[in-house]
Amino acid sequence: MALQTVRTVADLRAQVSSWRSEGLKVGLVPTMGALHEGHLTLVKTALETCDRVVATIFVNPKQFGPNEDLDTYPRTEKEDAAKLDSVGGHLLFAPHVEEMYGQDGGVTKVSVAGLGDILEGECRPGFFDGVATVVTKLLLQALPDQAFFGEKDYQQLNVIKRFVADLNIPVEVCGVPTVRENDGLAMSSRNQYLTREEREIAPVLYRTLAEVSERFKMGGKAEALSKWAGQQLLDAGFQKVDYIVIRRADDIALDGVKDEPIRVLAAAFLGKARLIDNVG
Ligand code: PAF
Repeated sequence: MALQTVRTVADLRAQVSSWRSEGLKVGLVPTMGALHEGHLTLVKTALETCDRVVATIFVNPKQFGPNEDLDTYPRTEKEDAAKLDSVGGHLLFAPHVEEMYGQDGGVTKVSVAGLGDILEGECRPGFFDGVATVVTKLLLQALPDQAFFGEKDYQQLNVIKRFVADLNIPVEVCGVPTVRENDGLAMSSRNQYLTREEREIAPVLYRTLAEVSERFKMGGKAEALSKWAGQQLLDAGFQKVDYIVIRRADDIALDGVKDEPIRVLAAAFLGKARLIDNVG
């Protein structure tokens, strides 16, 4: 079955409800396009448990700050559609901005207090409101059984799980492990902003996170490790470290404690790219 593309909520709903009336299970993979192996792994994972998989491509203006890369964010829908087709995706929903937000841009927003205000939320004010608002809309537009998000955006995944629970949205949110290049760099659409020289430095982020996790397990102190790790990144050539912290895996608002599952999360600038990553 070749991939179909729809651009309106009405067409999306008609297709999904026809599948559901046949008793088929539907998975949703929201993306902003510029698809790489990480996104395709989300689709492949969805295909393991769902009969039909809908991917969405929407570069959501509400999650970009005024000085961020909304205008230059890579838009490659034709290539993306071919990739989705090649891995067995069934439907692409690629709405225009007006279809998503109406003529006046919409005035309602979804906001996750606390969890949405720390780390990424603190560095990128309004970012998680934009994500939560568009993902709520996508989930209500498609009404899938399951929705799939990468663990690379670990805080985003937590924010989504939280509002889905709070708002009783009838969907199972599934996290999918980060897909990495051979040298450990987490795949990201923004990696293409890196120059060749920066691309060689970039894997230091993952290596540093892994080392922090290891040293913490061996009894290292969180604060000292964060300081050490930040300096490692600067020494390697990163220009600015937004944060590198050890948090409890199931509640990243709280500091990590030894003998409990932890997550080490970081964001740092390398040239034009702001790289984020995390390890367990
Ligand atoms: O992770 C992303 O690509 C975006 O934040 C998402 C979840 C598609 C919402 O725009």
